[in-house]
Amino acid sequence: MESLTWALNEAVTIGFGIIFLLYCFFYKLRRNGRKLKLPPGPRPWPLIGSLHLLGNLPHQALTRLANKYGSIMFLRLGSVPTVVVSSPAMAKEFLKTHDLVFATRPICAQGKYVCYDHKDVAYAPYGAYWRHMRKLLMVELLTVKRIDSFRFVREEEVSAMIASIWQESGHGAQCVDVKKRLSSLTQNITCRIFSSRTYSDNELSGGLGFKQMIDEMFAVAGAFCVGDFIPSLDCLDLQGIRRRMQAVQKIFDGFAEKIIDEHIHRRLEERKGKEGDRVKDMVDVMLDMAETEGHTISRVNIKATILDMLAAGVETSSTTVEWAMSELLRNPATLARAQKEIESAVGRDRQVKESDVMSFDYLRCVVKETFRLHPPFPLLIPHESMEGCNVGGYFVPPKTRLFVNVWAMGRDETVWKDAQQFKPERFMGCNKDVRGQDFDLLPFGTGRRGCPGISMGISVVELALAQLIHCFDWSVEGEVDVAEEFGLTVPRKNPLLVRPSWRLTVEYPI
Ligand code: HEM
Ligand SMILES: *[C@@H]1O[C@H](CO)[C@@H](O)[C@H](O)[C@H]1NC(C)=O
Repeated sequence: MESLTWALNEAVTIGFGIIFLLYCFFYKLRRNGRKLKLPPGPRPWPLIGSLHLLGNLPHQALTRLANKYGSIMFLRLGSVPTVVVSSPAMAKEFLKTHDLVFATRPICAQGKYVCYDHKDVAYAPYGAYWRHMRKLLMVELLTVKRIDSFRFVREEEVSAMIASIWQESGHGAQCVDVKKRLSSLTQNITCRIFSSRTYSDNELSGGLGFKQMIDEMFAVAGAFCVGDFIPSLDCLDLQGIRRRMQAVQKIFDGFAEKIIDEHIHRRLEERKGKEGDRVKDMVDVMLDMAETEGHTISRVNIKATILDMLAAGVETSSTTVEWAMSELLRNPATLARAQKEIESAVGRDRQVKESDVMSFDYLRCVVKETFRLHPPFPLLIPHESMEGCNVGGYFVPPKTRLFVNVWAMGRDETVWKDAQQFKPERFMGCNKDVRGQDFDLLPFGTGRRGCPGISMGISVVELALAQLIHCFDWSVEGEVDVAEEFGLTVPRKNPLLVRPSWRLTVEYPI
């Protein structure tokens, strides 16, 4: 009898206990439910979510959607939760206030199959490995001092480009495709910086020349990859994109291996005292580090760094100069003013040197204005949240992809007066800059994941543009359009065909 009472008592206690726990559980669920308000956005379709809304120019489509849903919006792209940010205030929330939460990158085919399984800087997930690689760039490879040591490379290569344009135009007799020359320029500069030399088209194995390899690398990096958004379709590789990625990765790997071997060989020769001093290139710097105690630099570290410099540093700069030229040709008064500024400092009897560029205030405004209207990465590189986060009164779930639409911000009439017009004057006499302090102008991103190559990128763009407009006057048939194309970056859709005429008093280059 006693034991029965005890059992009853126990049952009642346990019963209440369970009810209490259930109550707590549902209460918490409801509270969370109230907190879980996602930012507004379009209703997703099954499987594809809102992918069908993106079209050929996703940054433009997302700008139109933001006009409807606001400067923070939530979409499902395939099965990927995505938040899109389109105002300076929101950009600051995500890239400054909550920078750490959004400091990782999503897993994607490009990272997996091209970038040594996310072992490069740009696609590495946040963590010790990324920090190690990022430090290598910031402290050793892309310092102001190091960038400065390659000044002669930039000057030689830009002058070579001027000569090649003049030659290709038949001394001003016909039009040239400026973008081709600019791509070749930024490839040559980048190669000389990491490897002290340029590469021609007949020295790669695998059936592709150097330029073809680069073109294919950019094509796959810029391609829309279905499996990144609908993982259930990933294994099928319906687009054949994974196969292309693996093929180009193999060729790149052979190329990078060869560079490292060449360097090791050359260093042995140099130690025997057979060659004189030369400026250390980036592979040298990394091999030096590998031999120094306290550093761990592997072959993959070196190869992935070369990969990032090609992928991040080549097309961005050439696209920017091409857009700057386009805008200047559409705005002759602006071009004339920029030319006059250079001429009054340099005269017409020599070419511009990098040390001259410092004093070209107006030219620098032209470059800023170009970045405002034509940021090469209009949505930056996708970030991903590492945990749930409350931003601007909304809840952003963990593992949400983040796009910062800097293209939309640059063209927003509520942010910029006469936003659609190309007016470099707007930057004269104000300190607004592209380096990440001003959240309405973020062509390089900002914060932990901001571009480590800013100084390098800007110095190439400024010198190339200055030389192009100082050495030549340009004529163009018909109007210069501004149609865009979306890929790795957003270049012009139609080639810019222009005819140069020599405007210096010194003799033409050969
Ligand atoms: C006009 C030239 C350039 C522009 C406009 C540009 C822009 C950008 C942008 C928007 C990002 C992503 C920022 C983010 O996700 O928040 C980025 C990342 C990066 N850029 Fe640049 N970039 C340029 C030149 C360069 C150059 C010359 C290099 C190297 C030599 C470089 C190396 C990188 C790397 C390694 C990253 C990844 C950083 C990380 O994920 O931690 N960039 N760049
Ligand atoms: C880049 O270098 C190659 C030689 O490797 C040269 O043929 C080409 O003209 C250079 N490009 C420019 C724009 O000067």
